[in-house]
Amino acid sequence: MEILSMLRLRLSLKQRYCLLLCFIVGSILAYQFTRNRVDVGRMSRVEGLRANSSQFTLERKPFRILGGSIHYFRVPRAYWEDRLLKMKACGLNTLTTYVPWNLHEPERGVFHFEDQLDLVAYLRLAASLGLWVILRPGPYICAEWDLGGLPSWLLRDKNMKLRTTYPGFTDAVDSFFNHLIEKVVPLQYSKGGPIIAVQVENEYGSYAKDEEYMPFIKEAVLSRGISELLLTSDNKEGLKRGGVKGALETINFQKLNPNDIKYLDVIQPHKPKMVMEYWSGWFDLWGDLHHVYTAEDMIPVVTEILKLNMSINLYMFHGGTNFGFMSGALAVGMPAPKAMVTSYDYDAPLSEAGDYTTKYHLLRNLFSHYHAQPLPELPSHQERRAYQPVVIQQHLSLWVSLPFTDKPLKSERPVNMENLPVNNNNGQSYGYTLYETTISSKGTLNSKNNIRDRALVFVDKHFLGVLDYKTQELALPDGKGKRTLSLLVENCGRVNYGKTLDEQRKGLVGDIELNKLPLHDFIIRSLDMKPGFVNRLESSSHWMSVRQRPSFPAFFQATLYVNSFPKDTFIKLPGWSKGVVFINGKNLGRYWSIGPQQTLYVPGPLLHRGDNQVMVFEEQETDGKILFSSSPDYGMTVDVQ
Ligand SMILES: *[C@@H]1O[C@H](CO)[C@@H](O)[C@H](O)[C@H]1NC(C)=O
Ligand SMILES: *[C@@H]1O[C@H](CO)[C@@H](O)[C@H](O)[C@H]1NC(C)=O
Repeated sequence: MEILSMLRLRLSLKQRYCLLLCFIVGSILAYQFTRNRVDVGRMSRVEGLRANSSQFTLERKPFRILGGSIHYFRVPRAYWEDRLLKMKACGLNTLTTYVPWNLHEPERGVFHFEDQLDLVAYLRLAASLGLWVILRPGPYICAEWDLGGLPSWLLRDKNMKLRTTYPGFTDAVDSFFNHLIEKVVPLQYSKGGPIIAVQVENEYGSYAKDEEYMPFIKEAVLSRGISELLLTSDNKEGLKRGGVKGALETINFQKLNPNDIKYLDVIQPHKPKMVMEYWSGWFDLWGDLHHVYTAEDMIPVVTEILKLNMSINLYMFHGGTNFGFMSGALAVGMPAPKAMVTSYDYDAPLSEAGDYTTKYHLLRNLFSHYHAQPLPELPSHQERRAYQPVVIQQHLSLWVSLPFTDKPLKSERPVNMENLPVNNNNGQSYGYTLYETTISSKGTLNSKNNIRDRALVFVDKHFLGVLDYKTQELALPDGKGKRTLSLLVENCGRVNYGKTLDEQRKGLVGDIELNKLPLHDFIIRSLDMKPGFVNRLESSSHWMSVRQRPSFPAFFQATLYVNSFPKDTFIKLPGWSKGVVFINGKNLGRYWSIGPQQTLYVPGPLLHRGDNQVMVFEEQETDGKILFSSSPDYGMTVDVQ
């Protein structure tokens, strides 16, 4: 009441009570707010991570980053906590994660930060478990992820120059960062949150097309309120051109080369040294072998890094899965691009399904020496199930599914998938595109190497062969009258590393010739197989019983009955050749008999008690059986070179 009289307000009694009530409620809310802030950090915040001497300091005390990468977008949300607890129990103190722009902004100006993409919830969870965070927001992240995390709609601009200060790129980055950075600013160390450092771009030294670009990205995070320590991350070669004034340079490697460490000292004397990406394993490519990096090779290197007083981040600590069509491709050092497999197990210390490995146990023992307190108990192992095999009940040919796609485009010339007028004019990002035209003669079909990446060729729905980077010609047999030529072109994944990012348009990227004359008058259909399409398809009345022979490519349906609490499992398709699996409408990813990967991870949270729908899109053949296994098969192994 004192306050009110001081303000000399002439208020009625009722108004005075009202004001008092507001004051009390306001105070309670303010108290709650400060309490929440303190909860995240549990310590007074004076000075965050600093790099002013040869050792990091946090709160002015020496601090060593023992980090590990887990990507929230590669682990089902229901398992975030399990994986982070296992990270904590291994003796790590810092979580590092990339941020995939292409998932957060699938259409220009449409942003998603909810459910599986709830970055704020992920970082808060890390904080609540006592983990610090180094955020790696890109915008380019490499990560064996389609186009290194850049949205495919950027490529609609035929002059696009990705990762440069080309205005078409920087405007898009600005817009994305306006949405992203404001979400993470309150989660910084100085504000009571877990973020102790932020990485500027990613391995720009091995791209380095524009000297203005790194200063632009640095300014883009600073101007939006990032105030914690800035870092850059490069391999030895990239260090020369990857840095930016005001950010600490860190190095990426797998085998320790003393000269590389000395070099870091030369370019950056009296600074803490950190391996931002200590590669704990390696990724796999379709048609290749499964890479293994043995614990015997790895542990001595990590021991040595720690002895050198360096900080370390294990990339990956837990790899997870490239669900859907999100895996990237590699084109460096090979005649044609090779696509990444669906699993991102990475031979990391914690397996794709969250299992402890030999590496995990040895690392835990090693890291325990760097803690004054005993490490937390190991979270219990999750059970797996090898469900009984299921048989296909129904099938529906691709040709019958076409009315369920978006409106087809009629075009004189082929149009690449990014420039199709679908998805609110953001183009098609992933999956397959069907190009059809009419032909009236036999002859030689020549792709002019304009197929990205692989096409199944049909005449009047009869399969004739595959065109790709290696096979660019196909003989079309004679036939009567006008016939339909169909090319089902698959985007197998955009390159995520190397200098060819600007050339990652997919579908047909130029003319296709028949007898040296370009074909024209195409009907083009997007088959990105998004949940809406899969749901529409499921409710179709055109499904046929297995008594009738399927015509390929086709969709197949089966039911997996789960009679108890759903457990993780692995799908095995030994009688199938190539395609995509959907569980209860969720795209698990691609399978391909050429391997190396032979099983797909099915996390338990995707299943429910009772009937579960398994849908498979298969390009060529099937024995009609879907098998389940309690352990993964990543194929024939080879040691990382
Ligand atoms: C310590 O480092 C931070 C950035 O890491 C810098 O802003 C600050 O000026 C430095 N302080 C001293 C005393 O050098
Ligand atoms: C690591 O730090 C310790 C303690 O500060 C020091 O005694 C040791 O010489 C350092 N080792 C190296 C290789 O710099």
